[in-house]
Amino acid sequence: MGKTTTAVNLAAALAAGGSTVLVIDTDPQGNASTALGVDHRAGIPSVYDVLVEDAPLADVVHECPDIPGLTCVPATIDLAGAEIELVSFVAREMRLQRAVNAFVAQSENPPDYILIDCPRASGCSPSTPSWPAVRSSSRSSASTTRSRVSRCS
Ligand SMILES: Nc1ncnc2c1ncn2[C@@H]1O[C@H](COP(=O)(O)OP(=O)(O)OP(=O)(O)O)[C@@H](O)[C@H]1O
Ligand SMILES: [Mg+2]
Repeated sequence: MGKTTTAVNLAAALAAGGSTVLVIDTDPQGNASTALGVDHRAGIPSVYDVLVEDAPLADVVHECPDIPGLTCVPATIDLAGAEIELVSFVAREMRLQRAVNAFVAQSENPPDYILIDCPRASGCSPSTPSWPAVRSSSRSSASTTRSRVSRCS
């Protein structure tokens, strides 16, 4: 209860305070994307491409139009079928974690904070407790970035 509300408002507050923030929407409803003013129509580059098509996270990051420093990886309705598409993938529960870690490690200026808005828990979706063991990347622990991946439940 209140996952999206918390993620979106926390992200906006952090950005308003001068931090850079990335919100990753992993709910096919795309409510966080909507709240942040980011298009999430079917087919646009989204978290689906990361989870299913192995796209780099950097390729699907969108600027939020209203708040400087705030970016969003939108979720589209395409994600609704991802759970089934991922059934045969080995370590599917780690795919977003790996993408986030690669993104932070490869970014010149990774965001100070990364927040993930999860869908309601079901099956092997990225909301299961096994994957958000993600806290920071090797880069963040070794250098100045304050990137953190948080899970609202
Ligand atoms: N602290 C709060 N006080 C009162 N109402 C709240 C609070 N946080 C969220 N709500 C309301 O509760 C409803 C659900 O909130 P929200 O969409 O953030 O939940 P969610 O956990 O993301 O739901 P879902 O699992 O469906 O994605 C919304 O109508 C929202 O306005
Ligand atoms: Mg929600």
